[in-house]
Amino acid sequence: MKSREIHNVAVIGAGTMGHGIAQVAAQAGASVILNDVSPEFIAKGLERIQANLEGGIQRGKLTAGDRDQVLSRVAGEESFETAVADVDLVIEATPEKEDLKRDLFEKLGRLTPAETILASNTSSLGVARVTDPAGRPAKCVGMHFFNPPHIMKLLEVIRTDRTSEDTLRSVDEIAERMGKQVIRVKDFPGFATSRLGVTLGVEAMRMLEEGVASAEDIDKAMELGYKHPMGPLRLTDLVGLDVRLAILEHLERELGDRFKPPEILRKAVKQGKLGKKTGEGFYSWT
Ligand SMILES: NC(=O)c1ccc[n+]([C@@H]2O[C@H](COP(=O)([O-])OP(=O)(O)OC[C@H]3O[C@@H](n4cnc5c(N)ncnc54)[C@H](O)[C@@H]3O)[C@@H](O)[C@H]2O)c1
Repeated sequence: MKSREIHNVAVIGAGTMGHGIAQVAAQAGASVILNDVSPEFIAKGLERIQANLEGGIQRGKLTAGDRDQVLSRVAGEESFETAVADVDLVIEATPEKEDLKRDLFEKLGRLTPAETILASNTSSLGVARVTDPAGRPAKCVGMHFFNPPHIMKLLEVIRTDRTSEDTLRSVDEIAERMGKQVIRVKDFPGFATSRLGVTLGVEAMRMLEEGVASAEDIDKAMELGYKHPMGPLRLTDLVGLDVRLAILEHLERELGDRFKPPEILRKAVKQGKLGKKTGEGFYSWT
């Protein structure tokens, strides 16, 4: 059977990830509705899309005509019910809280047509656990984008035991139009990317704690020795120490002690040192 082509997309949550996901969906030629809890958040998301596109023009990647076309395909919508009423795909990009996401998927199950594909951008929660309340398991999938979505090429597609092949084909098809490279991963805690990413990060933190080397030298080890574009501690500063702690706590519960968050991380988060966003983490960003 031919998979359903995706023409209309709703993105729920216009924050760090949601606005960028809306942008790449519009660049893929889809009509996009961007929803958030308040008109200010939606307006901010739309402004950020505009700024990303201006940046693309400055770098010679886009023309003014491309920008206008993309902007004409994205609309903000305050009403959740209206935003999702008539779309082929919903991508949920709200905060990493299981109860919030489950509640949204329960509503999506009631408010969208039965054939609408429902995707979550969760970076660590179980996709089946989060999407089950929709009551439409064959149409539910994880679409894990990377930050910033308009630049990063990877899309990690998470299939649950009940995601259909048809749904996966539709997701592959829009991913290709978005210019993404897909990896397919089973619905297992931390998927592939978060699990590997935090493994390196957690070991780097333990090494810092044990006084093996400075943060700069630990990062340089991976940058120059292994050609990583950025060392694990600097990357943790960019992702957010609080975000990494939440992922580690989840993985410790699901997979055991090897993901136990190091004391140095807990202490930094307690002190409000969350990385670049607060001006200090493993590095000072002032
Ligand atoms: N930040 C990253 O680097 C990153 C990378 C990959 C995946 N993720 C995942 O993406 C998701 C979103 O993360 P983020 O960093 O964009 O968060 P964020 O806090 O920047 O944005 C979340 C947005 O969702 C909105 N929201 C909250 N409740 C809502 C509701 N009921 N309906 C509509 N909108 C609602 C918030 O107002 C906010 O604007 C999380 O699951 C996170 O784990 C984040």
